[in-house]
Amino acid sequence: MIVAIDGPAGSGKSTVAKLVAQKLGFSYIDTGAMYRAVAYKLIKDKISVEDVSTVLDGLNLQFIEVDNQIRIILDGEDITDKIRTEQVGKVASQIATIPEVRKALVKLQRNMALQKENAVLEGRDIGTVVFPNADLKIFLTAQPEERARRRYIQLKEKGLAVSYEEILKMILNRDKNDTQRKEAPLKPSKDAIILDTTGKSIDEVVDFILEKAKKLKT
Ligand code: DC
Repeated sequence: MIVAIDGPAGSGKSTVAKLVAQKLGFSYIDTGAMYRAVAYKLIKDKISVEDVSTVLDGLNLQFIEVDNQIRIILDGEDITDKIRTEQVGKVASQIATIPEVRKALVKLQRNMALQKENAVLEGRDIGTVVFPNADLKIFLTAQPEERARRRYIQLKEKGLAVSYEEILKMILNRDKNDTQRKEAPLKPSKDAIILDTTGKSIDEVVDFILEKAKKLKT
């Protein structure tokens, strides 16, 4: 079974998708982490965005499970935490507009998922492009102000000095990039269940998705 969870930055996708996968006993695949991994490599090796094709061939990316947590390994280096910076997110959003990048990563995502019996995939285009025949498609949304507030609290908890206004600006910018790009823009698939998470708890959202998945299983 394939469960597709799509939505904009800060919609709660990652937290929700991880919990749904855990509770269903499914594999969890974070496709945004793949765009981030390519972006990380560009920054680290000082390669310009225009030359991104040079890192696509032979991209040595693995997701491995350590102590019940998925770790992201690039060329043998654990980059799980290193790809979560704003700088990496910004470059990831730029390269995500390049057709060649999307083609290579979509192929990788399909291969990875098809090696698993059941998987929850999280991203922007899972229900529309990667798995248009997914068994269950969820599109999470939330008001930009709510998404900014969540990210603000998350970063504050990590001890980072951030301003709410800056985060809101970044979220609006990221939305613009993701929804207005020509290639696989962020939009709900016609048969996706759209769920506005504004004011909803994580548990409420997770339970809602689990209910839908269980109905499919039986
Ligand atoms: O979900 P995230 O913030 O980790 O994603 C990083 C960037 O990658 C974001 O700008 C959107 C892009 N992305 C995408 O275009 N398609 C996906 N399936 C996943 C992420």
